[in-house]
Amino acid sequence: MNAAMSPDLASVSSKVDAVPHITIRGLTKSFAGQPLYTNFNLDFPKGRITSIFGPNGCGKSTMINMAAGLLPMDSGEVLFDGKPLSQTVIGYVFQNYRDALFPWKRAIDNIRYPLKIAGKSAGECNARTEELVQSFDIRFDLNRYPYELSGGQQQLVSIMRSLAVHPEVLFLDEPFSALDYEMTLFMRDKLQDIFEATGTTMILVSHDLDEAVYLADEVLMLTRRPTRIAERVVFDAPRPRTPATLTSDAFTRAKARCLDVFQREVSARELAL
Ligand SMILES: Nc1ncnc2c1ncn2[C@@H]1O[C@H](COP(=O)(O)OP(=O)(O)OP(=O)(O)O)[C@@H](O)[C@H]1O
Ligand SMILES: [Mg+2]
Repeated sequence: MNAAMSPDLASVSSKVDAVPHITIRGLTKSFAGQPLYTNFNLDFPKGRITSIFGPNGCGKSTMINMAAGLLPMDSGEVLFDGKPLSQTVIGYVFQNYRDALFPWKRAIDNIRYPLKIAGKSAGECNARTEELVQSFDIRFDLNRYPYELSGGQQQLVSIMRSLAVHPEVLFLDEPFSALDYEMTLFMRDKLQDIFEATGTTMILVSHDLDEAVYLADEVLMLTRRPTRIAERVVFDAPRPRTPATLTSDAFTRAKARCLDVFQREVSARELAL
């Protein structure tokens, strides 16, 4: 056990100056008898971007899937501003956009879908869709079906769909990992624009440490399973973040801290084997 390791208690959680939005308490989850989370506690701050970074298979997707109600917990509680998920509007962007969109619906109908489910009128659906089209500066034809769009365009549609209902919380599981570099840069900046315009609490799982730090107010570093919080690394560079952010001292320091923690966790595991 590394003495520098932070305990995963909510009371020592975020140094970011924000109230908690999502509170996870006593979360326990096993797969095939192997514990993944045991009595796990965590707060995600409101109106901030929290990146989640950790080794493969440590439970990043499982955590946000349980928080978003896509996967049952064995025990524990997740509250949003003290309310259950059923009283909260959330959005979720899946890593695999190919499976995430309804292939039989045109892009525009994919975007409208959550609005229709929420009981909005045709006029309200059209107005909100038009707002999103303007905001994302969409130049391609949203009357096309997903298979007629590029990967980047499909992921853009899936992000627009997740935002259609003005979510209080947006979960994103490696949303850009299948996109090319140019599209990734565009989407990162778009996400940051949306964050600045709306203040939506965002939880971003990313495999790319540069991206995790660049977008985040805080990087949540996880250990290997059974999963604990290794450390929460604050990155409070001003927004909007720009390419210059990537070469700033603050960025370099935050990234180096994350790498230290990551390597400590990997080698801690190797010593234990
Ligand atoms: N449905 C399942 N049945 C059995 N084991 C599972 C299931 N889902 C996840 N696991 C296991 O739980 C662990 C956490 O998986 P999870 O997908 O949450 O990890 P992750 O941190 O998102 O990994 P990656 O970085 O590869 O995306 C892994 O060891 C995985 O094999
Ligand atoms: Mg995952």
